[in-house]
Amino acid sequence: IEARLAAGPLAGRRIVVTSGPTHEPIDPVRYIANRSSGAQGTAIARALAGQGAEVVFVTGPATIPPPEGVEVVRVETARQMREAVLSALPADAMIAAAAVADWRVAEESASKIKKTKGGLPTLTFSENPDILAEISQMGDGRPSLVVGFAAETDDVEAHATAKRARKGCDWILANDVSPATGIMGGSENAVTLITEDGAESWPRMSKDQVAMQLAARIAQALDAV
Ligand code: CTP
Ligand code: CA
Repeated sequence: IEARLAAGPLAGRRIVVTSGPTHEPIDPVRYIANRSSGAQGTAIARALAGQGAEVVFVTGPATIPPPEGVEVVRVETARQMREAVLSALPADAMIAAAAVADWRVAEESASKIKKTKGGLPTLTFSENPDILAEISQMGDGRPSLVVGFAAETDDVEAHATAKRARKGCDWILANDVSPATGIMGGSENAVTLITEDGAESWPRMSKDQVAMQLAARIAQALDAV
């Protein structure tokens, strides 16, 4: 018991964390991206490792460096992120903090798309795999705790509650990413935790504090399994 306490409440737990944006190529020099900095996912991975977990940090091209003390797997696209997550299993928990692009360009051009006189390119999209839904709904080998995020700009609680049911994950951490909140790309977060028991709003706090609270809740939940 002493050794376990010294190593932290998550000692012996393997946890996969996805983080950052994905980049979806258009041609060799262009891509589609989003404004995720990777800050919340990075803070979560750091907090989990700090509590003793073995963390596999699957990250898209984030603007901030990954935390110390975790296994870093760098990917660019949603499809690469999915492969990396599947390769990292089995795990006790999966935390999907990445802002995965919902769509990719259907056919990446092998050569740079050139300007043509009077013509404009048209992009056609395909839907990306939903990594969180797939992991949530896998049978054998499903992590015992699967946590997703829900980035919403309106009706946060209702959308997030519906999202939890649709994806089949255990918890959703919902946040309001309306530009006015300054959360996307900022250092603070205001989240609502949705579980099977309902919704719990946390006060606005730093992304590091959200991460610490979440890590503590994850340790509790895994101990109860
Ligand atoms: N997610 C994922 N794979 C995707 C899309 C989303 O793993 N292709 C995960 C995100 O990491 C997040 C959760 O699903 O944990 C919810 O992401 P969000 O974009 O809020 O939900 P969507 O289901 O994509 O719905 P929408 O963007 O239409 O609100
Ligand atoms: Ca989405």
